Amino acid sequence: MLSLLLSLLAPAAVFAGPCVEFDSNFNLYVFGLNGKDVNVGAQSSWNSPNPQAIATSGRPPFDGTNTQCFLSQYNNAIYILGADNANPANVYIYDATDNSWSMSVVTTAGVDPNSVVSILDHDTNVFYALSGGNLYQLDYSTITKTATGPTAWEAVEAPNFQTTGYKPVMAIAQNHIHFLDVPGNQAGQANIFVIHFSYFQPEVQSYPAASGSQTFPETHGQVTSFFDPNNLVQQQFAFIPDDNSAVYIVNVENNSTISLTGPTDTTASTFAASTSALVQLTSSGSVYYMPFGQANPGAQNTWTLISNFGTAASGSNGSSNGTTSQTGASQTAHGSSTASPSGSGSSSSPSAGSAKGGAAGLRISGQTVFALGAIALGAALFL
Ligand SMILES: *[C@@H]1O[C@H](CO)[C@@H](O)[C@H](O)[C@H]1NC(C)=O
Ligand SMILES: *[C@@H]1O[C@H](CO)[C@@H](O)[C@H](O)[C@H]1NC(C)=O
Ligand SMILES: *[C@@H]1O[C@H](CO)[C@@H](O)[C@H](O)[C@H]1NC(C)=O
Ligand SMILES: *[C@@H]1O[C@H](CO)[C@@H](O)[C@H](O)[C@H]1NC(C)=O
Repeated sequence: MLSLLLSLLAPAAVFAGPCVEFDSNFNLYVFGLNGKDVNVGAQSSWNSPNPQAIATSGRPPFDGTNTQCFLSQYNNAIYILGADNANPANVYIYDATDNSWSMSVVTTAGVDPNSVVSILDHDTNVFYALSGGNLYQLDYSTITKTATGPTAWEAVEAPNFQTTGYKPVMAIAQNHIHFLDVPGNQAGQANIFVIHFSYFQPEVQSYPAASGSQTFPETHGQVTSFFDPNNLVQQQFAFIPDDNSAVYIVNVENNSTISLTGPTDTTASTFAASTSALVQLTSSGSVYYMPFGQANPGAQNTWTLISNFGTAASGSNGSSNGTTSQTGASQTAHGSSTASPSGSGSSSSPSAGSAKGGAAGLRISGQTVFALGAIALGAALFL
């Protein structure tokens, strides 16, 4: 049975399921972990969470292989893509104000839902996605917090850069989609799509290292944008290489990059950002955070495990509560050796970050990889 599952899962090479995301009040949610969704609460409570269960009616099954979650900051709504394996293109909306779910049927129109990488633009509430060498858009500007259907992806244009073999890494900031790890680029460079003018900027943009730092390497990784507390466009995003070796903070206002210490847990992970924290969800279901001050981005803060957030979410589902209910008080990740087993699989999936607020928000949480660890988790759930 296990080997059958593994053989079924292995060809996909990825097993994304759960994701982390924020609502507009910056409560942290963990969706789809062990079959449950939970509102972990605000950052001030993370050392001793009082998690709240959320509505279950109409939730996606979170059995997809290419899941991404985005905050629509204006609407206090969380959009979830790729969370329903039977209908991988459909978009689920969690209305965080009303605590309710809805779902809209989406026509793919050329987009491959199993490999697409998307971002959500903060100001226009339009998704952009790279799939099969083309840029597409999906307009949620009038849908906001309750799904209506059906909707459809629309082709925009092909990028002005080489997409063969490219696993997209897409960040949003200042109404610009930043494409990192584009073939042929150097460290610290991004190709840019300017949303308001709907065109690919001809020049590659450089984000050199701020003094005393290093710029981001030319490699695949995860991206998420920090939200603006006043609901304006995002100006800084985090890039985390797949090996979690560092966190690079890219500031699109002054065109610079700051390097910070990477997560303690180096297993395949996805990330979400609020106004003041970077959150990591590992493939084994552990959640860590690093406080972050947008006005003082160079300050190195500690990565800390968020413990016991699964209380409200875990029922008597046997071993499936293992990853969410780590016992013990919140512990500092640095130097701790409680990290989950290293999954051998480093991420091989494309990534786009979480959605960001601001015209360019990318806050995608999800697409992740979850290679081995996730397969094990999936197998545990199935068995
Ligand atoms: C256990 O998990 C399954 C799958 O997510 C769910 O359908 C079921 O309701 C859960 N049972 C309990 C008791 O929580
Ligand atoms: C860019 O702005 C940030 C503040 O947001 C500052 O910390 C950083 O030093 C600036 N970088 C450069 C190169 O000016
Ligand atoms: C950042 O780079 C862009 C494009 O090269 C340039 O127009 C802008 O002036 C730069 N910003 C700063 C603060 O140097
Ligand atoms: C959840 O895990 C904890 C720690 O392993 C265990 O003590 C507890 O009995 C488990 N609860 C359920 C419902 O399985």
